[in-house]
Amino acid sequence: MRKHDLVEKNLGLMVVLIVVAISFGGLVEIVPLFFQKTTTEPVEGLKPYTALQLEGRDIYIREGCVGCHSQMVRPLRAEVERYGHYSVAGESVYEYPFLWGSKRTGPDLARVGGRYSDEWHRAHLNNPRDVVPESIMPSYPWLNQNTLDGKLTGKKMEVLRSLGVPYTNDDIEGASAAVKGRTEMDAVVAYLQSLGTALQNKR
Ligand code: HEC
Repeated sequence: MRKHDLVEKNLGLMVVLIVVAISFGGLVEIVPLFFQKTTTEPVEGLKPYTALQLEGRDIYIREGCVGCHSQMVRPLRAEVERYGHYSVAGESVYEYPFLWGSKRTGPDLARVGGRYSDEWHRAHLNNPRDVVPESIMPSYPWLNQNTLDGKLTGKKMEVLRSLGVPYTNDDIEGASAAVKGRTEMDAVVAYLQSLGTALQNKR
């Protein structure tokens, strides 16, 4: 009997060996990513979100913007020409959870920071048709009316700090005061204006 017959005629053994072979391949590809600096270290100039930007991000999640907008520029010529530098892992190291998304009903927003004025964003979010007549994006007029109380902002920062986001004690203590009384519109616009700015200028 040849040795290989043992494997071919014994299904249990073959399953075990297949699993070993595949996991080895997977480990060799995946494990090094945890140790490569390009995937674990922030890109130069990356700053954690300010209190107001952080609240804006949570509103972005609440309103489901990620369902229509990705935040991930792929390294393809058409994308880089339209949006700017492709996204790199080091830009997302402070993102919990990341909002890369996969659905593009609207344009990618990974590099939208600084592309429009704050006033443009306010008008656009209030009613997209006022600035882009053919737009199918929903209106978010309540963002102008709702104000933030800032009660949980510091807590959110503490949690993020425990995950490795470098917030200082001053950031956390000042968080509530920094957002209290501001509108949700202020927060979302501050968030949008920060997107992709760490790498944007190095195109
Ligand atoms: C139903 C899908 C949909 C949802 C949900 C949606 N958008 Fe949009 N968005 C679009 C479309 C389509 C466009 C392109 C037309 C336009 O500019 O209005 C767009 C455009 C934009 C732009 C301009 C991007 C550029 O580069 O020109 C921004 C900024 C934006 N959306 C932010 C948001 C935010 C913030 C939210 C959540 C509060 C949101 N969108 C929710 C569909 C959507």
